[in-house]
Amino acid sequence: MKIISDVHKLQHICLDLRSQGKKIALVPTMGYFHEGHLSLMRWARQNCEQLIVSLFVNPTQFAPNEDLEAYPRDLDRDKKLAQKEKVDILFTPKPEALYLPGHCTWVEVPDLAQNLCAKARPTHFRGVATIVCKLFNLTLPHLAVFGQKDWQQLTIIKRMVKDLNLPIEVVGRPIVREPDGLAMSSRNTYLTPAERKQASFIYKGLLMAQTMVKQTHVQAETIKNALKEFYKKNLPSGKIDYIELVHPEQLTPVSLIDQPTLLAVAIFLGHARLIDNIVLRV
Ligand code: PAJ
Repeated sequence: MKIISDVHKLQHICLDLRSQGKKIALVPTMGYFHEGHLSLMRWARQNCEQLIVSLFVNPTQFAPNEDLEAYPRDLDRDKKLAQKEKVDILFTPKPEALYLPGHCTWVEVPDLAQNLCAKARPTHFRGVATIVCKLFNLTLPHLAVFGQKDWQQLTIIKRMVKDLNLPIEVVGRPIVREPDGLAMSSRNTYLTPAERKQASFIYKGLLMAQTMVKQTHVQAETIKNALKEFYKKNLPSGKIDYIELVHPEQLTPVSLIDQPTLLAVAIFLGHARLIDNIVLRV
């Protein structure tokens, strides 16, 4: 496995790989790998010739009051895990190499960055779309693999690729969960043992909603209210940021659940803000 932090060197190697006709896959990450990240690498490994994983805690997707400094990092451990997954290139740039002084060009997908996470994090998706676009330009991948855990992020990247005619296939992969249902996340390390126990109820609530829609066509409001009650009871230390029911691709609010609908939630718990989602099927 090559470990590259030089932006020009990476781009040069990828141009070379591309001209040799090698099929390149990119898995963008912020590191502190867990099984969710590894599942993306495994899928990509099976579907490309050159697997590139980027590991970069992207400052522009964090607001000044957020956890950029505290975000967990362990490069040595990540290197070993990436090697085990047979990653060809691990890209570990420094922020100053990706954002030169005077950087002022941004990629925005405003229609999809109105609700859900964008309400609490209004500049987040501009940072995400910009860094992912930059990583695409540096690595020239045929395939780029993302997790459905960050559903809004995945939807925004798909739209960016479509709108900007980028010749890249964006693949979304299922959420990997802990045995008790909690979606894996690097931020789960912020939880105390007591909070960690409560956190498993986030997904249990989503499953309860799935049961509700299986029985009959339900109003979104009914599901929201039932979930609010469920979380109040089972996640007493949690504070709901949002519970939203939206069209899975347009991300626009849905009022009656009569077609596949994305139920997405974000909950503040201790020092963490945890997100999860499920596509409700009637
Ligand atoms: P990060 O949170 O490190 O996630 C990297 C990739 O792993 C994302 O595509 C994310 O959706 C996926 N992922 C995270 N948890 C997962 C889980 N439990 N199951 C499946 N996939 C999971 O998302 C980012 O980094 C950044 O915003 C990034 C796209 C790298 C841009 O900076």
